[in-house]
Amino acid sequence: MPLIQAPRGTFDVLPADAARRAVLQSHAERVLGGAGYRRIETPAFEATELFARGVGEATDIVQHEMYTFDDGGGRSLTLRPEGTAPVCRAYLEHGMHKLPQPVKLWYLSPFFRAEAPQRGRYRQFWQVGAEAIGSPSAETDAELIVLLSELLATLGVRETRLRLSSLGTPRTRLEYREELTAYLRAHRDQLSPEVAARIELNPMRAFDATDATTRRTMEGAPTLLGRLAPEDAQHFVAVRELLDGAGVKYELDPRLVRGLDYYTRTVFEFTSDALGAQSGVGGGGRYDGLLELLGGDPTPASGWAAGIERMLIAAGELPVAPELVDLFVALGSRDGAREAFELALDARRAGLSAQLELAGRSLRGQLRHADRLGARYVAIVADQVALRNMESGEQHELELAAVIPTILRGSRLA
Ligand code: HAM
Repeated sequence: MPLIQAPRGTFDVLPADAARRAVLQSHAERVLGGAGYRRIETPAFEATELFARGVGEATDIVQHEMYTFDDGGGRSLTLRPEGTAPVCRAYLEHGMHKLPQPVKLWYLSPFFRAEAPQRGRYRQFWQVGAEAIGSPSAETDAELIVLLSELLATLGVRETRLRLSSLGTPRTRLEYREELTAYLRAHRDQLSPEVAARIELNPMRAFDATDATTRRTMEGAPTLLGRLAPEDAQHFVAVRELLDGAGVKYELDPRLVRGLDYYTRTVFEFTSDALGAQSGVGGGGRYDGLLELLGGDPTPASGWAAGIERMLIAAGELPVAPELVDLFVALGSRDGAREAFELALDARRAGLSAQLELAGRSLRGQLRHADRLGARYVAIVADQVALRNMESGEQHELELAAVIPTILRGSRLA
């Protein structure tokens, strides 16, 4: 019979990978917990409406990338493609506006997008994310950026770059789009035919053109950053000053667009040149309109998410602590089976890590196996009990009841 494989674009987290992920998680806990962020987990699926409204009907994510299904009762559900809309839903549902603001939350969870799989791009992937809901301050944005930058640095994520911009408000954006479209129309004959054909559809694309004529034309084009309303411009200056003060390097990128509609004001993205085409390691920004869009009171908020797999690819080696085995309980003869079983249980209750022979190996095989596991001690249980120190090779007989105290004394001396 043909073997069944994991679905395309998914992967198994094998024990060695799990160990690296655990290291990443403990770093995230330390960096985010240290700044007062508390863990939240929301369901793996939500009402489809949440993402249609929150992420935006017209985005690629909602148009093409969602795993949407009928729950059998006529309700449309969707495997979450991202975490911000769900966290905001939870904030509103649990009345978290009554808590001291901002409410600072973090998560480490799987997300689902039906994208074409490639290195660093999967259909089920994990993100660590942070959201600060209820603060309009530039400090919140800057602090979030510094936290992500620190997380990437502690993980040793290589060749990172930070791109930063401000999107202002939806209204500024609309006005800007009209201004840019007018500029492109007026310079139509100085644009490549491809760009000229897409003026109405996606005027921002003109900034990405590679041909010399279009590029020259675009040098004179208005930028959104140059059109921000005074309060938005001020907010952006404040964020930049805080980042400058913190020594965080960034490139201003007026063309930074994110694939989600909820952003206002600050947006940012960390990329790593150590990754291939999928170079986005993590990104986010301010989303002052989202909570209202989901039915709440107007509530300013800001956050980011970073892809676990991409961080791990770009981090290269991560020092993983070796797994400890204090005691391996070997069977010297079948008669000792019950004592051996109980000795392993008692050892664990005493705080030691202990493993039991489970595969019917010969005594020699058991000692070899214990050595492979890196066990510090082996108790050989038969009519008598012998305890072998695997480092020194010393072995002596003792009472069953003396095994655990001896090891504990040994570890204290070590
Ligand atoms: P996003 O940019 O769509 O933002 O995703 C954040 C990160 O998730 C990306 O930078 C990337 O590392 C990782 N990622 C996204 N899609 C995939 C995929 N198919 N395979 C592997 N990794 C992937 C958001 O999701 C926003 N919710 C971030 C945010 C939080 N904004 C404000 N708060």
